[in-house]
Amino acid sequence: MNNISATYECAPNIALIKYWGKSDDELIIPLNGSISITLDTSVLSSRTTILLIKSNSHKIYVTLNSATQEIDDGDLNKSPDDLINKKRLFIMLDKVRQNCILQDPFEYEIRICSSNNFPTACGMASSASGFACLAYCLSKAFGYKGDVSELARLGSGSACRSCFGGFVKWNTATDSAFSLSRVLFPAEHWPQMNIVALILEDGKKAVSSTHGMKDTVLTSQLLPQRVKIVEEKRLKMMQQFIGDKNFDQFAKLVMQDSNSFHAVCLDTYPPLFYLNDKSKEIIQFINEFNKIDPELKVAYSFDAGPNCFLFVLDHHIAELLFLIKNIYLNNSDLGEKIVTSADGNFLKSLNFDDIQESRKVLLMNLVRKFTSENKSTIIKYLIHSKIGSGPVHCNENKSLLDLNALPK
Ligand code: DP6
Repeated sequence: MNNISATYECAPNIALIKYWGKSDDELIIPLNGSISITLDTSVLSSRTTILLIKSNSHKIYVTLNSATQEIDDGDLNKSPDDLINKKRLFIMLDKVRQNCILQDPFEYEIRICSSNNFPTACGMASSASGFACLAYCLSKAFGYKGDVSELARLGSGSACRSCFGGFVKWNTATDSAFSLSRVLFPAEHWPQMNIVALILEDGKKAVSSTHGMKDTVLTSQLLPQRVKIVEEKRLKMMQQFIGDKNFDQFAKLVMQDSNSFHAVCLDTYPPLFYLNDKSKEIIQFINEFNKIDPELKVAYSFDAGPNCFLFVLDHHIAELLFLIKNIYLNNSDLGEKIVTSADGNFLKSLNFDDIQESRKVLLMNLVRKFTSENKSTIIKYLIHSKIGSGPVHCNENKSLLDLNALPK
């Protein structure tokens, strides 16, 4: 029995301090460090199985969301926006084969099968979770001796942050071996934190992050300023605010960094318009909600697309969802629109009756302010997640490949 297999599940992550711009496109070294929160694998995750079959064929088969293709070096540079970008897969494979405990790393046929527990059309990027899974599977199967986050980074920059749970920091460095991600604080550090994704559009984005950030590096004069501020101030500030569990300061910095990232997108030539009118409506709504009290209650953040990621603590989530339900969902049943952890405990525990009457009066004023026209088509659906604990190594029964090495 010469076959070796491994299966992992990894969740996407949302950057609190964004990565945008590389100093090395091939090695994916970022111009600035970044900090993220990893989502819960039971809500959103990619699962990948790798199977190494002792053989002289050296073939590589990749199955993504049920479509299988054989790939070889001749395919490189074709369709660069493929979910598993082939060139990056080969770079990862090379890296692993050069530094692993397998005696004969070239003497295997490789089968990789990957799928997401969320539809590709749900507007959530899957490349971070997908490449993190691939890095863990390759590491395990080949007995890779290097750092798994460096390997994931060679697949997609943000993927290196999905290699761990909790709050994760990815450093910039001049040497590839030092541009790694590490846990800043584990998920248990701030259990009151919730992430609510508002899916406003579910199509493919117009300009991929890889291409967009390349244009920004080439043309934006604002970018060097952003990189300096992030490196000199924001990373330290964010680490401190998370450490102190200072939500007010945390929220302000999350929103400022998202705004600053979209400012450099606009400063790119030709400009990158990732936010749309729906995104701007949500920004205004969150600002108005925050104005009700002296301290901030919710933070928004947007990646390279129009969908919105909200951060909110337990004691304000009922109010936030009460408003969303009344303004944007025609007061319909939340259960129909929201994806949450497999046990669904969050929805069961959510009780709008617990909101004090005096607060409801304030909230209803906001509802009236925002429901002047029909807004029920703005939010397609919502995703709720707690902070995730990181990648899961799965046993054989979760393998995506059957005994004949075919996708199940
Ligand atoms: C806006 O990691 O997708 O989500 O390294 O070229 O694969 P590549 O780009 P990618 O960029 C993500 C950019 C972002 C911000 C972030 O996640 O930090």
